[in-house]
Amino acid sequence: MKEILSSADNRFVVVQSEPAMAEQLEAVQRASFPTLAEHELTLAHHFRSHMKYFPEGQHAVVEGESGRVVASSSDLIVRLDLANIWHRFVDISGHMTLSTHDPTGDWLYGADIGVHPDYRGHGLSTLLYTVRQDLVRRLRLKGHTAGAMPKGYGSVQDEMPLERYLLEVIRGERSDPVLSVQLKRGYAIWGIIPEYLEDPSCANYGVLIIWRNPDKVRKGWL
Ligand SMILES: CC(C)(COP(=O)(O)OP(=O)(O)OC[C@H]1O[C@@H](n2cnc3c(N)ncnc32)[C@H](O)[C@@H]1OP(=O)(O)O)[C@@H](O)C(=O)NCCC(=O)NCCS
Repeated sequence: MKEILSSADNRFVVVQSEPAMAEQLEAVQRASFPTLAEHELTLAHHFRSHMKYFPEGQHAVVEGESGRVVASSSDLIVRLDLANIWHRFVDISGHMTLSTHDPTGDWLYGADIGVHPDYRGHGLSTLLYTVRQDLVRRLRLKGHTAGAMPKGYGSVQDEMPLERYLLEVIRGERSDPVLSVQLKRGYAIWGIIPEYLEDPSCANYGVLIIWRNPDKVRKGWL
């Protein structure tokens, strides 16, 4: 296993995902996205496909003692037009295969991140966001982006528009189980994507988040 980063207590290690992990990756996915439409779930064969198209962009968190895969993230490179951000999850991800990976593109795109519920709150997504941002810098891309799921919005959608909800999350007046995590990791909200995917927890919305490569920002390239 190619170890990339360890947790401070050395209990967990981030590695590049391997085909033998595919079934465990699917189990983490099913536990992480219980309300996502079945046809939008990333299954074992999709994870194996990711490793063929862009092995460097696939990460798993393994618990050292048990050898168990407890979290993962999947990325691809895309050409992104920030003036025209509407897209659907299934299209940008090549129906979860990552066949849409474009090595000549300019942004790393997060197709997936999931931490098994039993292992949340231990900083594992923080490890994964760190290795993804390191990858952006190493590949000299413009930044990291994703269609984030505002998972707390579905339950309050009758009370307020998403714009109001996002404002409250940005101001720290409200916590969202996904966006609040990403804002803490330095991501900014760029725009709203209606009908991004099928999941009642986020009322089918995606929220485009971006993290700009500080090396490029410093040189005035962004
Ligand atoms: C979102 C998710 C990946 C976070 O993973 P995690 O490993 O529990 O997150 P971390 O432990 O690294 O926490 C990162 C920070 O966010 C905070 N945080 C974690 N969960 C939070 C929540 N539900 N609400 C608000 N803040 C939260 C942590 O306190 C931590 O803050 P700190 O840096 O100040 O200590 C995880 O909850 C998950 O897998 N959810 C289901 C799948 C999903 O929705 N993925 C995103 C799709 S866009």
